[in-house]
Amino acid sequence: MSTESLPKVVAIDGPAASGKGTVALRVAQALGFRYLDSGSLYRLVALRALERNVAADDAPALAQIASTLAPEFDGGRVGLQGRDVSEALRSETVSALASRVAVHAPVRSALLARQRAFRAPPGLVAEGRDMGTVVFPDAWLKVFLTASAEARARRRHKQLIEKGISAKMDDLLRDIRERDVRDTTRAAAPLVPAADAVILDSTDLTVAAVTDAVLALYRDRCGASGRR
Ligand code: DC
Repeated sequence: MSTESLPKVVAIDGPAASGKGTVALRVAQALGFRYLDSGSLYRLVALRALERNVAADDAPALAQIASTLAPEFDGGRVGLQGRDVSEALRSETVSALASRVAVHAPVRSALLARQRAFRAPPGLVAEGRDMGTVVFPDAWLKVFLTASAEARARRRHKQLIEKGISAKMDDLLRDIRERDVRDTTRAAAPLVPAADAVILDSTDLTVAAVTDAVLALYRDRCGASGRR
């Protein structure tokens, strides 16, 4: 199949807490496209590793977990062997471990085909760190969503407080900076904008404004190519 005839992909990459998850889900809903939250796959590997006492540096064992995962995705919920693990995947322990698990090239390659399998008609909105650079280099539209570390820590703080979880801004800011360093400096698929990505800084924008901006970029591109 030529790239032209494959279902279109909108790739949204960016650092932790940049708002790309919410934006990607809204863009997918607006376009009627499928949605891939690739970070949840790394989080699932981390959760399994915690449950099985697999160390963060044991790349072969982590890759084995990655290749045998059988998650069930249902809207924003994630199931694993009949359990709803959506909340467990968002814990700070799993978040920190996911970023450490993701540095291993064998783990990343074990998840590659699984991510590409999400590409199906009528199209896919995929969010993560390497959607536009590695997983879908031929994506129809690539967006790199950034925001200052302070703005991202404030958003995370608000989310946690709304859920009744206490959190300190200083700790959140430190965690976000640590994850940024790890995600951007790793050898395997580091977090960098694709050469052909549109960079959107959401520091002073609402989720609705960012969603509209991505949809406008998508429509412009469709208009320019005459393809819907
Ligand atoms: O997007 P997220 O915060 O749920 O991702 C969790 C971790 O997984 C993140 O620290 C880096 C890693 N990740 C990755 O390396 N590549 C992706 N495409 C998505 C996530």
